[in-house]
Amino acid sequence: MEVTAPAKINLTLRVLGKRPDGYHELESMMQMLTLADLLRIEDDDALRFTCSDPALSGVENLVMRAAHLLCQRNQITRGAHIHLEKHIPVQAGLGGGSSDAATALAALNEFWELRLEPNELSALGAALGSDVPFFLNGPTAVVRGRGETVTPVVHHTIGYVVLAKPPAGLSTPQVYANLHAGHFSPSGTHGLQEETRAMLHALEHGDLDAIAHALVNDLESPALLLLPELFPIRERMIQLGCLGVLLCGSGSALFGLCPDESTAHHAALDLSNDCPWTWAGPWIRFV
Ligand code: C5P
Repeated sequence: MEVTAPAKINLTLRVLGKRPDGYHELESMMQMLTLADLLRIEDDDALRFTCSDPALSGVENLVMRAAHLLCQRNQITRGAHIHLEKHIPVQAGLGGGSSDAATALAALNEFWELRLEPNELSALGAALGSDVPFFLNGPTAVVRGRGETVTPVVHHTIGYVVLAKPPAGLSTPQVYANLHAGHFSPSGTHGLQEETRAMLHALEHGDLDAIAHALVNDLESPALLLLPELFPIRERMIQLGCLGVLLCGSGSALFGLCPDESTAHHAALDLSNDCPWTWAGPWIRFV
């Protein structure tokens, strides 16, 4: 069995405040990309895990933690060999680890014929990481709470993006730790944040300029302070014709929304002079 684990970007990410449990209350419009890791699952006597990146092949990998969680809850007697081929860079804010975990949960549910319901998988996913429930409910969704409240969004807009990651990565807890109350977006008395509403409207109408205008990420200021080399990359993306540029999740990758495919590919080629990792391609949409 072979399954893809797509990356994501956050078209909006509003941090509404800090919660008593130490996490932050979020509202984010998340969008899956065609950039993806690959999981291969085969029968085996025991549970085994290998990875194309040896640095990620330990038992603490979220794929193994997902598999162990399923085994514990369902008294599994069968094994599996899971091989993960990494294409999504780590510490980039693209959700690679969370996507691998979500994909492993959904794929092993089928492979071991466990018949867990989507809400049961989401609950297991939330225990593994805040972004995991989204990856069980993509390709586009408004995510709230810590990340566990996922409302899918149906749209048909084709979007091409260019991604560029500088040599340094960013740790998510570190970026959140550098977020101060001044960065928070006050939650309205009712309904969604202004940018989320604008983004929903723009996606519904296929209006790329309006999508670019509504891009917002409250984690961008603390990330730029931690990694000032992001400033010139952002500038370059605009010069290369991107309609809008934003930090991916908690970084350190940036994405640029492009007017067409050739702008995205040309930008990726140019940015690869300064960035060790770049990518260009479309996001995933309902067809
Ligand atoms: O849930 P996950 O392990 O992916 O979160 C990683 C880190 O990101 C947390 O330890 C926390 O510092 C931060 N985080 C947060 N609020 C969220 C999601 C993540 O503060 N809603």
